[in-house]
Amino acid sequence: MSKALWSLAWEKGTLVLLDQTKLPDEITYIRCKDYREVGKAIYRLAVRGAPAIGVAAAYAMVLALQEITAKGLHGEERSAAFQKAGSELIDARPTAVNLSWAVSRMLKAFEGLPEETALEKLTSLAQAIEEEDKSTCDAIADHGADLFKGKDHLRILTHCNTGALATAGIGTAFGVIYRLHERGQLERVYADETRPLLQGARLTGTELMQNGIPCSLITDNMAGWVMKEKKIDAVIVGADRIAANGDAANKVGTYSLSILCAFHHIPFYIAAPFSTFDFSISSGEEIRIEERNPEEVRQIKGFYTAPKDMPVFNPAFDVAPHSLITGIITEKGVLKPPYDVAIKNYERSLQ
Ligand code: MRU
Repeated sequence: MSKALWSLAWEKGTLVLLDQTKLPDEITYIRCKDYREVGKAIYRLAVRGAPAIGVAAAYAMVLALQEITAKGLHGEERSAAFQKAGSELIDARPTAVNLSWAVSRMLKAFEGLPEETALEKLTSLAQAIEEEDKSTCDAIADHGADLFKGKDHLRILTHCNTGALATAGIGTAFGVIYRLHERGQLERVYADETRPLLQGARLTGTELMQNGIPCSLITDNMAGWVMKEKKIDAVIVGADRIAANGDAANKVGTYSLSILCAFHHIPFYIAAPFSTFDFSISSGEEIRIEERNPEEVRQIKGFYTAPKDMPVFNPAFDVAPHSLITGIITEKGVLKPPYDVAIKNYERSLQ
């Protein structure tokens, strides 16, 4: 896998983020020494994709602790400042559970740590979270590709960006696609451009081309016709939060894809790591959907394509119902319906 593009790197007490808003035109890095800068980068999608947001947040908590330590805060004051940093980071984006999962993990590890060793221990934990994401991506890729054993000339459709840019590793849904390409089973990937912010065109497009994967870019409203005309074998997408019943929130447009797949009898797979599961919610009804700036819809790359004062509805995510999901590809294997049972067993296997 070409790692020419990476989402983030920890360099001597600084978090370096690739500014994904500038891709594919420019390769620009942001060096964050302050956790608030990471929060801003998460909010404006300079770093995005559920697993990458989680890893970035873990390092942001290390930056917060660096600041707290430099200020010489102790005891209650120190804990309160650390928790405040965590809450500010979580507020940056509400739907991807990986963000609050990573912050909670850092907060939990912080409790009871002696002040002298806390920074070192939390830095190691953030690095472990990053490494874990890499190995998790690899396992997802293997399990996902195994679903297609004995099949070749596969035509896969995907949505948004789920690759190296969205994770610390090779990606989730993109990892499966990459593995199928490595195994010589892939004929072509159809990538939805993914309006309004074009993560499919700008980011997945870049990753597909860099890795020499045969691909075609389509606009989101072409997906149904492409399924019919190009005989799509499977749709594989990522997720930002999966409820205990299997309902899966992902980039807006995923809900429509799940329905189109059902109509065309095409398998519809979600690929996601354990950090994307929210075992505490019983269904997708409980998932808060982030609504973003109307200008994202009125404009494309700074140019108005709609009347400047036109009202907009801009949900960043939607929820694919579990009844339309063929399988959820995880690092432990592929979960199949009934999802309430499969997800309970999966949760137990993580303990
Ligand atoms: O708004 P984004 O770009 O963060 O949305 C990303 C997605 O919806 C991805 O499909 C999801 O995070 C899975 S990433 C492996």
